[in-house]
Amino acid sequence: MSFSYELVNLLDPYTKEPLQMGKGYLFNPVSGEKYYINSGIPVFLTENQMTGDNLKYSRFYDRISRFYRISSVFYCWLKGTTEKKVKSLYLDQLEIKKGSMVLEVSVGSADNLKHLKPDASYTGIDISFGMLTMARRQLKRWKIKASLCQGEAEHLPFPDNSFDVVFHVGGINFFNDKHKALTEMIRVAKPGSKLLVADETESMVVNTYQKNPFTRNLYQLADRDLSVPIHLLPPGMKEIEVRYFFDQKVYCLTFRKPAGFGGKAENSGH
Ligand SMILES: C[S@@+](CC[C@H](N)C(=O)[O-])C[C@H]1O[C@@H](n2cnc3c(N)ncnc32)[C@H](O)[C@@H]1O
Repeated sequence: MSFSYELVNLLDPYTKEPLQMGKGYLFNPVSGEKYYINSGIPVFLTENQMTGDNLKYSRFYDRISRFYRISSVFYCWLKGTTEKKVKSLYLDQLEIKKGSMVLEVSVGSADNLKHLKPDASYTGIDISFGMLTMARRQLKRWKIKASLCQGEAEHLPFPDNSFDVVFHVGGINFFNDKHKALTEMIRVAKPGSKLLVADETESMVVNTYQKNPFTRNLYQLADRDLSVPIHLLPPGMKEIEVRYFFDQKVYCLTFRKPAGFGGKAENSGH
């Protein structure tokens, strides 16, 4: 399996120091830390290094990864619509142009990438290796080129100001640290770029997931703040807009990183 990150240099996600290529791994020449490459996917975080909800949901998504896409396609069919129509509601907000560098944080099985313009350059990160394995298979089948890696949204292994488009769909409600993840997404986005964050609304989680016997246990989040995370954005973001879809079940927050915004990487350990 080939491995290439031709367009974005990878950094140590925890110290933000540049990584070098070893045989089957990337390494940090300052700390000596090694990050192994598994089936073409650099692994910045293994299951035994995960904690809290990130561990809980990475296990959950590993378990359901084989059925994730088929069940969402089936759900759309039951609702009398298609995956393309549903996804276009939010994906149409992205400003992807020919040659754009695009990052999807929590790429899952890459289902969104299927519906985006083919002449851009795609990168995806996710905590679930199961979902990334499905992403790799599907991308191959759809003939879409994308660079994938396993890691947390809270610690992105990319340099500041790297991507023309950064977006996230469907996981932030349960991230260990939503504020840190948003800070990281903004850090790696180029100044002037539009970012998109979409997830289920609080009413959807409380009235559906917490009541459904199949999902009740997974969604018992007593002290979770499930509001649209506008209050977690750093001061100075422009054009902040929130749209709601599917009878208020999903929110879609978009905003623009201003030119000259000085969001910097924060150093942090595992
Ligand atoms: C509902 S799925 C959405 C996948 C994809 N974005 C889509 O729209 O089809 C949520 C994804 O978020 C990932 N995820 C959860 N917590 C994460 C974190 N802290 N950092 C990165 N990814 C995370 C899960 O592994 C899962 O693949």
